[in-house]
Amino acid sequence: MSTHSRIGTVVATVVVLLVLSVAAGFAFIYSGIYNVSAASKDNPIIAWALHRTYEASLHRYGGKDSPPADLMSLDNIRAGARMYDSTCALCHGAPDRTLSPVGQGIQPSAPQLLAATRRNNPPLMFWVIKHGVNMTAMPSFGKTQSDDTIWKLAAFLYKGRGITKDQYDALKSAN
Ligand code: HEC
Repeated sequence: MSTHSRIGTVVATVVVLLVLSVAAGFAFIYSGIYNVSAASKDNPIIAWALHRTYEASLHRYGGKDSPPADLMSLDNIRAGARMYDSTCALCHGAPDRTLSPVGQGIQPSAPQLLAATRRNNPPLMFWVIKHGVNMTAMPSFGKTQSDDTIWKLAAFLYKGRGITKDQYDALKSAN
């Protein structure tokens, strides 16, 4: 076989394989085989792939905004606690409180942001709160809230790690 016809065979094979893969992709999408129910956990391979994609994206795009100088002031932490309680606790939970029906129903579920083992790096938290996480229940709060409000939430998440119910209730009720 001449070099030319060998290259021709390789190119034709690659094209046929590409067409077949695209056709298989469409067949998969239109078949309905993939079960989109949120009632059961994701397949572990898909859950791993989605989570890795999230972590890599967060570290690539997040963490570049500079926090305000008074980030960890008591006023900021209190304001963050109030907003957390009214807007975030339904999905992310609060100490010694049953998770809301929304929080129990979403898939993937929302992490317990006030757990003692969390890192809650404020610039990374700021980025997630501002931009949200596509294809999950995590909203982009940058659409409706100022950066200032979002930093207050980030301050509370950092300070609130491992918080008890009494401390939580005191913080969110203080003026
Ligand atoms: C309707 C449910 C819902 C609400 C309301 C919600 N979140 Fe989330 N949030 C999620 C889900 C689900 C995830 C996990 C996304 C994923 O799997 O990557 C998440 C992820 C996060 C993360 C990233 C955690 C990590 O480990 O990287 C932060 C930070 C966060 N939310 C903060 C907030 C704050 C602050 C509020 C309130 C202003 C809020 N969320 C309101 C559902 C919610």
